[in-house]
Amino acid sequence: MSRSFELEWLGGSAEQSFRKLRPGSDDLPWGTLDPSAYPAALVDRARFSWTQGAFFEYCTAASLATLLRAMLEAGAPVDLVGMAGEFVADEMLHVELNSRMAMELGGAAPCRADFERLAVEPSSGLSALERANEIIVKVCCVGETFSVPMLNATRKAATHPLTTAVLDRIVRDEGPHARLGWLYLEWVESRLGHHERQRLGRVALEAIREISVDWRGCEPTDVEPDILSDLGWMDPVSYAALARRVVPRHITEPLARFGIVPAPREVGELLAAPGSVADREADLHRSLAHAGVAGDLDVDGTLDFDVARPIVRLA
Ligand SMILES: [Fe+2]
Ligand SMILES: [Fe+2]
Repeated sequence: MSRSFELEWLGGSAEQSFRKLRPGSDDLPWGTLDPSAYPAALVDRARFSWTQGAFFEYCTAASLATLLRAMLEAGAPVDLVGMAGEFVADEMLHVELNSRMAMELGGAAPCRADFERLAVEPSSGLSALERANEIIVKVCCVGETFSVPMLNATRKAATHPLTTAVLDRIVRDEGPHARLGWLYLEWVESRLGHHERQRLGRVALEAIREISVDWRGCEPTDVEPDILSDLGWMDPVSYAALARRVVPRHITEPLARFGIVPAPREVGELLAAPGSVADREADLHRSLAHAGVAGDLDVDGTLDFDVARPIVRLA
């Protein structure tokens, strides 16, 4: 059942323990990004982007929790499971940072989500090892591996100290999240039969199709580069060009070394597809609908904010 995407913050000793695990977020230069300095429509769009960021970080946390269980059930190596043990805390920090950026700009975009459908759901009828293989390929080898160079480039382009600090903090954690996928594949490689490699190729293709939302429909903009990068975006044309280089170099070529080959023709089509803003939004809505998101989440930049509400109510 869907409900408003608003998250709670307990404070007190829960907060102290969390801060001990992941220190420093209160030291970022909060209160320095003045929304009145930017065009209102762009600020609304940025509030949507950061809200969406918080939502996707939350989904990744749920998927990493599912992955941990599958790795434990599959008898994955102790150190590999231990390495992944704190990734949920990383993602909760990213949820917090994205939420605080949305609030810095005036509040979150209204959004409803089904919290029981946020995690990647492995196909039915699989063994524990096959479940872990599937989630690893989807979440770590495609999703997290894609986000590392993309976030890095966005951080390098960022011009405002707060935006830079937030992206810097997030990108630091994503490297190990991606690395887990490749270390796991090194471990599991000798156990992968021909059919399982073929199946994982199809899993990877679907995951690439999902992330292709990110580059399809990126169109030139006449917004000043400094405004874009203050609010947390890269120039869309450079972003799309980088994304098209990242997929073969960081995802499909490394996967192929493990005999996992997403259909080259389909990948090529996804990379070449010029797409349009309408395509991009249709794809985005489809992936959000898959995660149970419904309601007044809108991507056309004309959001109707009735209240400037926080996502996380910090105690
Ligand atoms: Fe994250
Ligand atoms: Fe991550």
